Amino acid sequence: MLSYRHSFHAGNFADVLKHIVLIQSLEYLRTKDKPFCCIDTHAGPGKYQLDGDYALKNREFDNGIAKLWQRNDLPECVARYVSLIKRFNSTDQLTRYPGSPLITKQLLRDKDRLCLFELHNTEIKLLTAEAHKDKRINVFHADGLTSCLKLLPPPERRGLVLIDPSYEIKSDYQQVVETLVAMHKRFATGTYALWYPVIERSRNQKLERAIQASGIKNVQLFELGIHADSDEHGMTASGMIVINPPWTLAPEMNQVLPWLADVLGNDGEGFYRIQTLVAE
Ligand SMILES: C[S@@+](CC[C@H](N)C(=O)[O-])C[C@H]1O[C@@H](n2cnc3c(N)ncnc32)[C@H](O)[C@@H]1O
Repeated sequence: MLSYRHSFHAGNFADVLKHIVLIQSLEYLRTKDKPFCCIDTHAGPGKYQLDGDYALKNREFDNGIAKLWQRNDLPECVARYVSLIKRFNSTDQLTRYPGSPLITKQLLRDKDRLCLFELHNTEIKLLTAEAHKDKRINVFHADGLTSCLKLLPPPERRGLVLIDPSYEIKSDYQQVVETLVAMHKRFATGTYALWYPVIERSRNQKLERAIQASGIKNVQLFELGIHADSDEHGMTASGMIVINPPWTLAPEMNQVLPWLADVLGNDGEGFYRIQTLVAE
């Protein structure tokens, strides 16, 4: 049974990086006139109340979106992200945060499509309500890792697959690699963006080695840390592993990540990694 609820974590430093990478990847797809399809394998409920009990429990957004919200010195990609979040808040008060489905919805053109998977019985109801009556969006109450294979390759032959698991089960790390290989076999030119947390570094090293050994080419990694690696702080860093990234993404992250590490890092402990895991 799934117990993870992203509402406890919405808008934290990990969401900042994840959603900036999502926005920049979608912006790139929008530069061409041809339609694209975005598949979100772990969609969550769609949006979050930052003034609700879940988010207020640990106030993780305080060290994420809230630190960026009122600044006027944001790098361009961060400014684009913050301005998108502002569309969901009608006043200067930060009370709402869109999840990946609503962020993507904002960037869909009439011809583009979004397919959302969510397994949790409560989250799927919230998500379905958010997508209501939008013909461009399909919502599936199903396992995103196995079921999304049926949608690949998308007829548009252009697209992004966001894979944002909660890693509740340790075997998720292995399953995501197996799934990426299967997805890539069906749709080799697609862009795949996999989110990962850093809680115990050895698990990440194993994940990176498995991707390097998978035979998939053109893989980049973007990581943002707020604490040096430690087993005392829970999630100390998180990142995105992107297969077939837009060529624009690495230069953008080169501007964004040092700045975010400085602003969101804990007492000078912030750090970032930009690494080509597998060359083209
Ligand atoms: C990290 S949250 C997603 C957050 C969302 N992508 C966002 O950015 O707002 C992970 C979600 O995946 C769901 N989930 C877990 N395992 C799943 C699976 N195998 N297939 C689909 N959804 C799953 C959880 O219920 C949870 O809502």
